[in-house]
This record gives sequence, structure tokens and C-alpha cells, in this order.
Amino acid sequence: MGFWIVFIPSSLLVILLVKLYIKLTSARCESNVCLSGKTVIVTGANTGIGYETALDLAKRGAKVILACRNEEKAKAAVRNIIEETYNNNVSYRILDLGSLGSVRRFAEEINTTEERLDILINNAGLQMVPEISGLSDDGLHPVMQANYFGHFLLTHLLTDLLKKSSPSRIVNVSSMAAGHTTFNNLDELNSDASVYSIYSRSKLCNFLFTLELHERLKNTGITTYSLHPGVIYTEFTRNMPIVIKQVAEFVVKWFCKDAREGAQTTIHCAVAKDIEKYSGLYFADCKLASFPRKADMELAKSLWRLSEELVKLDKKYI
Ligand SMILES: NC(=O)c1ccc[n+]([C@@H]2O[C@H](COP(=O)([O-])OP(=O)(O)OC[C@H]3O[C@@H](n4cnc5c(N)ncnc54)[C@H](OP(=O)(O)O)[C@@H]3O)[C@@H](O)[C@H]2O)c1
Ligand SMILES: *[C@@H]1O[C@H](CO)[C@@H](O)[C@H](O)[C@H]1NC(C)=O
Ligand SMILES: *[C@@H]1O[C@H](CO)[C@@H](O)[C@H](O)[C@H]1NC(C)=O
Ligand SMILES: *[C@@H]1O[C@H](CO)[C@@H](O)[C@H](O)[C@H]1NC(C)=O
Repeated sequence: MGFWIVFIPSSLLVILLVKLYIKLTSARCESNVCLSGKTVIVTGANTGIGYETALDLAKRGAKVILACRNEEKAKAAVRNIIEETYNNNVSYRILDLGSLGSVRRFAEEINTTEERLDILINNAGLQMVPEISGLSDDGLHPVMQANYFGHFLLTHLLTDLLKKSSPSRIVNVSSMAAGHTTFNNLDELNSDASVYSIYSRSKLCNFLFTLELHERLKNTGITTYSLHPGVIYTEFTRNMPIVIKQVAEFVVKWFCKDAREGAQTTIHCAVAKDIEKYSGLYFADCKLASFPRKADMELAKSLWRLSEELVKLDKKYI
């Protein structure tokens, strides 16, 4: 009895202190830049970090397009953002990054209906999905396709519009997890592995992509950034086995950042002034950070060439 009387309140106190510490110390995007007249696309914006990013950019007056695969969820997110911001210039379009056809349809619609595109945020991501095996209809690993190949193609198809609107930006949500992959050669790209290795592999590809993208977009007025958002309480645990899910949710909820805090580095890369000189580089906690792996330009270049083939790019856009 006596033990519990001391143990319970003191653990609650520790949890509250940790939460308070996180609230007080987590980096914020300090920029007040207004985005009226600008158009932004955020992929995977119906929940989590993407939703908070879209909400913030809508508050700044941007025209925001939520690129989501689920119509019901997308509608609800648009409604919430409009209610909260009174910015009616918020809408959604269907984009399933797991299908090259859907990416092409989405890009074509945007290219024909939008006058401009100032900021593209490649945020959507499938997290540790167990028991995905086999390849998609496009012959790609489903997690690699949602997290990397889909965005690779999307970015290519939207580059004309980004160029036309320059100075414009491309922001890629990568992850520190990319530092943990053993991926070293392209033969492994679509092979099966543990859920964590596939996730970190896809996130390494986001980072390598940014390196090469920066090289190729020099002098176009488009700058490009990749980032680690932190460890954030979002829906990313939804595919985990139930027991692991419960434990992970408890830990992440109480000991990590919430989605609004998690969106800060993405927002920083999208709007902060004078970061153009850091194009191609990697951010965390709203500042420049060093990527947990050596920036291998050779691997970045060969990944780029192979990706062009695998997404069946019919024409050079970048
Ligand atoms: N949370 C973290 O601790 C953490 C850490 C490092 C990096 N990240 C990265 O941050 C980004 C956002 O993650 P989150 O934590 O906000 O995750 P989340 O809450 O699970 O949200 C992921 C979003 O991506 C969308 N999505 C997944 N597959 C898609 C597809 N094939 N086509 C279109 N949209 C798709 C989801 O749509 P549905 O709702 O329709 O599934 C959802 O909107 C991801 O790139 C993730 O890798 C997160
Ligand atoms: C919507 O956004 C676009 C692009 O930013 C802008 O040109 C247009 O005036 C905005 N429309 C309204 C009603 O605010
Ligand atoms: C982001 O990653 C996608 C692939 O996931 C890639 O196509 C794009 O060029 C990357 N952009 C940046 C800025 O990293
Ligand atoms: C986008 O539209 C422009 C013309 O407005 C066209 O030149 C370009 O090829 C189109 N890009 C794609 C990827 O369809």
C-alpha cells in the first residue's frame, strides 16, 4: 500500500515534468512570413504532421491543396482547417502515392488547373507496415513506392509549375531512421526486409533524392530541403501489432512531441527567410543538422537514374 501511495504520484509527476520540458524546449518555427498569393501542396495532409503543416500554412493565407488518398478523411481535414482559419482557399485532391497512375492523374490536374505552385511538401509516408510483401501493380515495393517513388515521380511532374513560380521550394520529410539502414546497393531497393529496414531505406532515398535534386535544380530558383521532424505522436503506430502499439502510443504520447510541434521543422523549411543557401541540405529542430549517414553522391546519382527507369519517366523534366 505505502509503496503505491508514493510510486503513483511520483511517476505522474515525472511524466508531467517530461511533458513540460518538451513543451518548453521543442523548437518552433519563428518565421511570421505571410503566404497570401502563394499556392502550396502538402501530401498526406489529412492527419499527423501533414495536417498541422497544412493548417499553419493556411493561417498564413496560402492557397493550400491537401493531397490525400482517402476522400472522406480529406474532406474532414479541409472542413476543420477552414473552420479554424476562415481561409476558404483550402481544398483537396485525390493522390495515392502507391499508384504511379494516380500520381500522373493528380499532377496533370494540378498542371492544368493551377496558375502556380510555390511550395511542394512531400510529407506522406507509410510507416512500419507489417506483412506487406510482394510488389505493387507498378512492380515496386509498396512502402518504397508510397514513401519514395511516388514522390519522386510527383516532384518531376510538378517541376514545370514550380519553375514558373520561382523562387519556390520543395520540402521532403525524411527521418533520422534513414541513418539506420544497411542499404548500400541498388539491388536491394525493392527487396523484402524487416519493416524497419524498409522504412529506413525509403527515408534514406528521400534524403539522397534531395541531394541530387539540389544539384539538378541549381539556377532554376527552386530550392529543396529534407528534414527529420522528431519523434512525434501521430497515427504512425496504427499498423503495429496491438501490444506494441499500446506501449509505443503511451511512450510517444507522453515522452515525445505532438503533431503541432512535429510540424515545426517542415514549416520552417517551407517559409523561413534566407535559407536558400542551405538548399539540398538536411534540417532538424528548425535548424541545419548533419544527416546521420555520409552523403554518398555516387549512390544518390545511381538511385536517381534507377528511379527514372522504375517510375517509367517518359521525358526528362529535371
Ligand atoms: N511520427 C514520427 O515520429 C515521425 C518520425 C520521423 C519521420 N516521420 C515522417 O513524417 C511524415 C508524416 O508522418 P506522420 O507521423 O504524420 O504519420 P501519419 O499520422 O501516419 O500520417 C501519414 C499520412 O500519409 C498518408 N499516406 C500514407 N500512404 C499514402 C499513400 N500511398 N498515398 C497518399 N497518402 C498516403 C496517410 O494517409 P491515410 O490517413 O489515408 O493513411 C496520412 O495522411 C512521414 O513521411 C513519416 O515518415 C514521422
Ligand atoms: C486563393 O489563392 C490564390 C493563390 O494564392 C490567389 O491568387 C487567390 O486570390 C486566392 N483566392 C481567394 C478567394 O483568396
Ligand atoms: C523528396 O523525396 C522524393 C522522393 O521521396 C524525391 O522525389 C524528391 O526529390 C525529394 N525532394 C527533396 C527536396 O528531398
Ligand atoms: C505542364 O503544363 C505545361 C504547359 O502549361 C506543359 O508545357 C508541361 O509539359 C506540363 N507538364 C507536365 C508534367 O505535364
